[in-house]
Amino acid sequence: MTKPLKIDRVSKSFLLENGERFDAIANVSFEVAKGEFVSIAGPSGCGKTTLLRLIVGLEADYEGEISLRGERVTSAGLERGIVFQDHRLLPWLTLEDNVGLALLNAPLSEAEKQKAVSDHIALVGLNGFEKSYPHQLSGGMAQRAAIARGLVNNPEILALDEPFGSLDAITKMRLQEELKRIWSAEKTTMILVTHDVEEAAFLSDRIFVMDNKPGRIIKEIAVDLPEPRDRASPDFGRIRRLVFEALRDGSAIARSQNDYEI
Ligand SMILES: Nc1ncnc2c1ncn2[C@@H]1O[C@H](COP(=O)(O)OP(=O)(O)OP(=O)(O)O)[C@@H](O)[C@H]1O
Ligand SMILES: [Mg+2]
Repeated sequence: MTKPLKIDRVSKSFLLENGERFDAIANVSFEVAKGEFVSIAGPSGCGKTTLLRLIVGLEADYEGEISLRGERVTSAGLERGIVFQDHRLLPWLTLEDNVGLALLNAPLSEAEKQKAVSDHIALVGLNGFEKSYPHQLSGGMAQRAAIARGLVNNPEILALDEPFGSLDAITKMRLQEELKRIWSAEKTTMILVTHDVEEAAFLSDRIFVMDNKPGRIIKEIAVDLPEPRDRASPDFGRIRRLVFEALRDGSAIARSQNDYEI
């Protein structure tokens, strides 16, 4: 199967105020198939957000190549959506206007835009809240709204940066199920950054585990679990353990490097 999204030996460094360069990610390579669900897990600061920002084109200055169907990604585009950890809804706009804002540059008529907004509000289960303002929504509802905004252009790829990180366990589980339903319905390619091993095992076809200093991929785990996935099954536990072990091995390496430096 051809994989339209290619991340090929990508490195990103930041120029610090003291004039030194800091390597946020180094030599990251992977490819993502159309309609695939991949997750990226790793410790804080290992470059997950940096990598997502590069993939959606929010940052163009990097080494290596990120390409979608053979074209280098250098700027944001309607075919790539993003959902941030904080919902980033504008407080002075209603839910429908917040979702509609993402259609500003879409080549659609007013009527088509209105339909796209109401379809996507329905898709995330927020019918009836079109005229609500963000402060009138719960945390889970605001994240649903952010997902609707991310999907309203029918992007080929949706990048999600810890979208459920701030939610309680039950809301999180419900939204993970929602996201899976949306993914099955829309066939969007999903790239999810998460700290949550269970979330990654529940949602993903493949999980990339990253580590720090510099940020890089240390393991790829194929999740060969049938649907619907049973979080209590031994096979689910096996995948969770594989991810945990990769994360633990990564931090052990980081610790021994620190010991060496001291
Ligand atoms: N604009 C920037 N200037 C300098 N350093 C940056 C900048 N953006 C990110 N970094 C550094 O790059 C590294 C990776 O940051 P990034 O936000 O990608 O990590 P992360 O894996 O998303 O962490 P978290 O899980 O805490 O969100 C960090 O050490 C961070 O300090
Ligand atoms: Mg981050």
